[in-house]
Amino acid sequence: MTLRPILIHPDPRLKKPCAPVTAISGEIRALADDMLATMYDAPGIGLAAPQVGVMLRVLTMDCMKAPEPPRPMVLINPEILWSSPDTSTYEEGCLSIPDQYADVTRPAEVRVRWTDLDGAVQEESFTGLWATCVQHEIDHLDGKLFIDYLGPIKRQLITRKMEKLKRDRARSA
Ligand code: NI
Repeated sequence: MTLRPILIHPDPRLKKPCAPVTAISGEIRALADDMLATMYDAPGIGLAAPQVGVMLRVLTMDCMKAPEPPRPMVLINPEILWSSPDTSTYEEGCLSIPDQYADVTRPAEVRVRWTDLDGAVQEESFTGLWATCVQHEIDHLDGKLFIDYLGPIKRQLITRKMEKLKRDRARSA
């Protein structure tokens, strides 16, 4: 298991749609293991493959809160089958946009279908934080970030901060 570096916005790889996974290979298993480890280490509740520079439709998430036992999930080729008309608003953040948070309104419940690491098709309805998280991560697979839901001024302000963060990190590397 290897921790993989997380790409920081702006990066062209975070703006591109990802390709479907065609077979659950050893490479995909290793990617999923690495993504879960990287997500827990960050720490974060969700991570999408493009955030570690892999342009495939894979995401990991675990929205359990201690003392509940963890529920590490790996979703391959996830699809939203249904979104509820009622919405909920959460203050979202993103491991690719460190320390920046903003309210985003999304459907409160979604039904999602995906393939698991055994190649089995799974279907589940998500509510609460899980619903927000899975939608945020599926957005990543389509090249969309939570800041794309904000107005242009706020989005630009955050992007400038991230450009500065990347310059500072490059300088101290
Ligand atoms: Ni994110």
